Amino acid sequence: MRMRCPKYKDEVINNCNFLIKDQIDFKNNYPLHIEIGMGKGNFILQMALNNPHINFIGIEKYASVACIAIKKAQEYNLDNLKIIINDISNLEELLKNKVDAIYLNFSDPWPKMRHAKRRLTSPEFLKLYDQLFKDKKVIIQKTDNDDLFQYSLNSMKENGYKIEEISYDLHNSNIPNVMTEYEEKFSKMGIKIKYLKAIK
Ligand SMILES: C[S@@+](CC[C@H](N)C(=O)[O-])C[C@H]1O[C@@H](n2cnc3c(N)ncnc32)[C@H](O)[C@@H]1O
Repeated sequence: MRMRCPKYKDEVINNCNFLIKDQIDFKNNYPLHIEIGMGKGNFILQMALNNPHINFIGIEKYASVACIAIKKAQEYNLDNLKIIINDISNLEELLKNKVDAIYLNFSDPWPKMRHAKRRLTSPEFLKLYDQLFKDKKVIIQKTDNDDLFQYSLNSMKENGYKIEEISYDLHNSNIPNVMTEYEEKFSKMGIKIKYLKAIK
């Protein structure tokens, strides 16, 4: 998701006291859940509000998008939410052995085969995530895209994950859910939301 920069981008980013630059300092030992590609941040913000005993980091590579999430989060004073503006590929050192769960919500599907390595569930990214997890590995993915969903299922199984929970129609299941911006858009179009929880 690339956007024109909102006018307030630099001011919001410069004055944000929950933006992580080089060190993670939650000052408690609660589990850490991260969303890779948080977009405008509705999901991670609501998850942090709903779960005060879990720490959350929203990661977004584009500052023009992340600043919208920051602006929303600044309306609350949350000790358990931080944001990183960077590509997950650059964050191995910062997040190594710290993460308990990864959320991948409506990740870019990269439909062309020659771009398959860029999918956030490619074997290359799964290897990176292996380094980030503290202990048990948990990946939760939601998508509108059938091909990406099937690709992710295969890729995760081939990389040693077990699929613990799956739905091909999340909104007609009993699985608790917090909606993302893309999810609202796609479900209004009548597209069924696919969901998986994989563990290793
Ligand atoms: C299609 S949007 C989905 C946004 C949000 N998760 C939602 O469901 O509404 C995907 C987002 O992931 C971000 N993204 C893609 N690859 C990324 C990466 N390697 N590291 C960090 N963010 C990434 C994009 O910039 C974009 O904002």
